[in-house]
Amino acid sequence: MKSRIIPVKLQRPISEYEIRVGHDLLDGCGEWAKNLLSEKPGRTALVSNRKIFGLYGDTVKNSLVNAGFQVSVCLIGDGEKHKNFQTLRQTLEFFGEKRFSRSDTVIALGGGVVGDLAGFAASIYLRGITFLQIPTTLLAMIDSSVGGKTAVNSGFGKNLIGSFYQPNGVLADIKTLGTLPKREVTAGFCEAVKQGAVGGEKLFDLTAGFLEKYQPLDNRKRLADQGFLNEFENLLAAHINFKVEIVRNDEREAVENTDKSSRKILNFGHTLAHSLEKVTDYRYLKHGEAVGYGIMFAALLSKKLGLLPENQVKSLNDVVHRTGKLPSISHIDPEIVFDTFKYDKKLVNDSLHWILLNGIGKPIIFPHANIPHLTLMTALEEIIGG
Ligand code: NAD
Ligand code: GLY
Repeated sequence: MKSRIIPVKLQRPISEYEIRVGHDLLDGCGEWAKNLLSEKPGRTALVSNRKIFGLYGDTVKNSLVNAGFQVSVCLIGDGEKHKNFQTLRQTLEFFGEKRFSRSDTVIALGGGVVGDLAGFAASIYLRGITFLQIPTTLLAMIDSSVGGKTAVNSGFGKNLIGSFYQPNGVLADIKTLGTLPKREVTAGFCEAVKQGAVGGEKLFDLTAGFLEKYQPLDNRKRLADQGFLNEFENLLAAHINFKVEIVRNDEREAVENTDKSSRKILNFGHTLAHSLEKVTDYRYLKHGEAVGYGIMFAALLSKKLGLLPENQVKSLNDVVHRTGKLPSISHIDPEIVFDTFKYDKKLVNDSLHWILLNGIGKPIIFPHANIPHLTLMTALEEIIGG
């Protein structure tokens, strides 16, 4: 049979957009959005939850209206359990009922749950409409709003249904962190420690130094202090820059890429974290708290495999503990946790790989098959047993 091959070469450059980080920015978010979108302000769906909207909704909405946008508010339930198909469907139906067109805009105001869900809805509604993020948690500012991963959870796992969809802009106002509950502050800083651990000694030392100087849970009181605000902004900007660089090199987390430039390194600490979240039904631990345990576990495993010296394991543990108190996990059965590792198999070609450390700031992607079962179980028992 004769056949012809017709090459299809598509240009899909990473879209360019700005992430603005600073303080007292919400009042001006309407002008910011208008300038970014460069078209006449149209309709916008402001997606949030009741709690966050109660705190910041009026400021954001008024600013958008003053800039000329017509704003419809779409409130979803609060918490991970609402990041699902049902909420996605309701959100898409909201866009449809309001007759949103491709020249309209979705704005997510909230943490990672609102951002991931609204971003996914924006990516599939009319095959993609303009999307802006206004993250209001520390985790969302340094991680989830950066890099275009959007998703909902489903019966077969967390974040497994989603898209890569870059926003058109991100506005992070650190003053919003002043109302963040204590555990969310700890959870966000655990993600910062994770990024430091894989991002390089400079980022790790900056994060460790900040956490030594400022007790994270007192930071909310310090948000009126200009010196503190500058240091906090520098820290967040360093984290955002690090993540942007990783995403620039590997936007879609290429399956075959297993070197340290891979986006996969951002999953450091996440294999244990996802297992702990799963075995506790996503109700007991905040995602970032689970990452805190995941960091200490990956560090211990790295040591047991002769990759990471004892003093660096200690440094990592100390810095995780500086973020705040993690809920005890001593009631969890290590065997059950071990059993759930298999759900992380998607990491490289259907086989489980661990992100470990060859030194602080030096991540490596390590095949599970090369780790003796006993080494893994002993490390797991040590971490779970405290
Ligand atoms: P979250 O969105 O559930 O927010 C945490 C809690 O804080 C919620 O109750 C929320 O209502 C409340 N809140 C948010 N901002 C507040 C504020 N300023 N003041 C007071 N309360 C506030 O949780 P999160 O930690 O922001 O995000 C976790 C989610 O992010 C998970 O679903 C995770 O899978 C996802 N995530 C995505 C990426 C990505 O790359 N897309 C990266 C990391 C995590
Ligand atoms: N938080 C992991 C990533 O964005 O790839």
